[in-house]
Amino acid sequence: MKRNPIAALCRPAFLLLLAFCAAIPARAYDPAVAGSADDPQYCGACHQRIYKEYSQSVMGSDLQNPIVYQFFTATNARGEKDGMGYQGFFPGQAGDCAQCHVPRLVLKEHKAGREVDLGQAIRDKADFGISCNYCHGIEKTVVKKEGTRYKTGPVNTVTLDGSGSVRGPGKGGKSPGHPIKVDPALRTSEFCSQCHLNQEEGHAKTRNEGRGVLAISTYEDWKLLYDKGIVRQTCQECHMPLLPGRQEIAVGAPKRHGARAHSFVGAHDPATLRDSVSLDLTTRIVGDELVVTTVIENIGAGHGIPGSGPIRAALLKLDVFDADGNVLSYTGDKNGLLHPLAGMGNPQTGQRGPQDWGGMPGRFYAKPLQSPPDPKTGQPRLGVGGFQAEKVAFDTTLKPFTPDRGEFRFKLPPGKTPVKVVARLVYRWAPIGLATAKGWKVDDRPMRVVSRTVERS
Ligand code: HEC
Ligand code: HEC
Ligand code: HEC
Ligand code: HEC
Ligand code: HEC
Repeated sequence: MKRNPIAALCRPAFLLLLAFCAAIPARAYDPAVAGSADDPQYCGACHQRIYKEYSQSVMGSDLQNPIVYQFFTATNARGEKDGMGYQGFFPGQAGDCAQCHVPRLVLKEHKAGREVDLGQAIRDKADFGISCNYCHGIEKTVVKKEGTRYKTGPVNTVTLDGSGSVRGPGKGGKSPGHPIKVDPALRTSEFCSQCHLNQEEGHAKTRNEGRGVLAISTYEDWKLLYDKGIVRQTCQECHMPLLPGRQEIAVGAPKRHGARAHSFVGAHDPATLRDSVSLDLTTRIVGDELVVTTVIENIGAGHGIPGSGPIRAALLKLDVFDADGNVLSYTGDKNGLLHPLAGMGNPQTGQRGPQDWGGMPGRFYAKPLQSPPDPKTGQPRLGVGGFQAEKVAFDTTLKPFTPDRGEFRFKLPPGKTPVKVVARLVYRWAPIGLATAKGWKVDDRPMRVVSRTVERS
């Protein structure tokens, strides 16, 4: 048997070399073969419209998303190691991150008893990610729950077809490109649950022991509401919008009714975001105070808003201005102030940027996770990834058809000049503190804005 000299050095006795060993790249993967049936472009030659929708979607471009790579490898936007991310906490380990991001490669390697390092797989271009052939080559998806914990991810929940047939919802006739198997399971939310449900493994052996929280709960959130009849659509019915009239499914094929877009629209789509919520605002004057009441309701999502991901948030920011444009001071209680995760500025200097809204009037909708205190500083940690988390810190996501009411009080200036109220609801994909540290630019995506002038005669 051949011995790997580097592996031999990496025995525990050589503790000083540990950092070096962690930096040894994991095994290289065979590059994915361009033009093979696994390549979405291969399918796209005939399914041109679908390919276009898919390649512009977030799921179709997951492997080009630098955030995924950086969060796994614990590097920042400049490519430097910063420790913030999976391999910062678990150096050299693969974890289960690759499962949902490069599923085909993982299922192949898993069969051979090997793990996949997501960073290495992305660098090697070893997989096409959430590809056509992956989704349309699945024979069966199950939702597995043991006690209170799920077993999640394709390795635990998916069986591949393997026959070379393409599975479809039953819209096509015959294809010169491939045999077809009709499979109604593609239309179920369970199909999407394989990735949109993520039970962290938990790392009982590490010092900061993660307990394995349900870091992505979208499918469960949906299921509870669907079973009660509160939500009536499946994931596909909202996220793969029905196309109007009759559509060509493949070039030259007969036009058919009932085709759905492969756009997987969600929180990156301005119209989807806007139509998901309503925002009402009323004002009244009580003595020398202005009382503003807001009512926000999730009227369009089949789960909480934000839909998932422990780092996402929706923020309501409320400002009241006098006739000269000065901000009125807030006199209400602290329920009307934004959570520190809305941004508290530079932790060293306290200097605030324009997106640091923590402590300002507004409301914060999110489901952040809490990890054990930082061993160096003893500080509790909120708003980072789920892999070390021990619990959900709080859940203020907007539940469908459950209005959220906020009340805010402001001190009115003397005199009778009108004041102006501006209520702004935005979607923020990462906490501003984390984003600044990583060098990520966070756009605040508009959801709803209401402004009103209050006369005082
Ligand atoms: C069970 C499936 C699954 C596993 C395992 C998984 N992910 Fe994900 N990941 C997802 C899904 C689904 C999303 C979409 C996020 C959402 O729900 O909003 C996502 C999103 C992300 C994003 C956000 C990208 C962005 O632009 O905001 C990052 C970063 C990420 N994953 C990294 C990781 C890392 C690192 C690991 C391992 C610790 C991991 N993922 C494990 C399914 C998974
Ligand atoms: C995330 C999984 C997923 C990916 C990736 C995916 N599809 Fe689909 N596809 C579906 C689902 C689900 C349906 C069924 C939609 C329905 O009718 O409810 C579908 C339907 C179809 C249909 C039937 C026609 C229609 O519009 O309903 C065709 C053809 C198709 N997909 C081709 C492709 C091609 C080509 C790609 C890659 C460019 C692709 N798909 C990528 C999940 C996926
Ligand atoms: C040579 C052209 C060609 C190629 C390449 C091709 N397809 Fe198709 N596909 C078709 C045609 C034609 C149909 C039937 C359309 C119809 O009858 O409306 C079809 C039908 C389908 C259907 C619908 C089946 C059903 O009844 O619901 C799916 C799903 C699908 N293809 C997926 C794929 C995937 C995934 C790939 C890549 C692995 C691919 N196709 C490659 C031509 C092609
Ligand atoms: C193999 C894993 C996998 C499967 C299967 C899967 N997804 Fe995803 N999905 C992801 C990942 C990973 C992301 C995050 C991509 C990113 O941000 O880079 C994502 C992102 C999304 C988004 C977010 C879009 C946005 O704008 O933020 C939506 C919506 C979505 N998926 C819907 C679906 C639906 C509907 C299905 C079932 C038909 C499905 N997904 C099946 C892994 C998967
Ligand atoms: C009734 C329509 C509806 C249904 C059903 C629905 N969604 Fe959504 N989803 C939305 C809307 C609207 C948004 C945008 C608001 C938000 O981010 O929560 C969204 C957002 C998302 C996002 C992006 C989350 C984020 O904050 O980045 C993902 C991922 C997602 N949905 C997945 C799913 C999955 C998986 C299912 C099925 C288990 C599902 N959705 C069912 C309407 C729906």
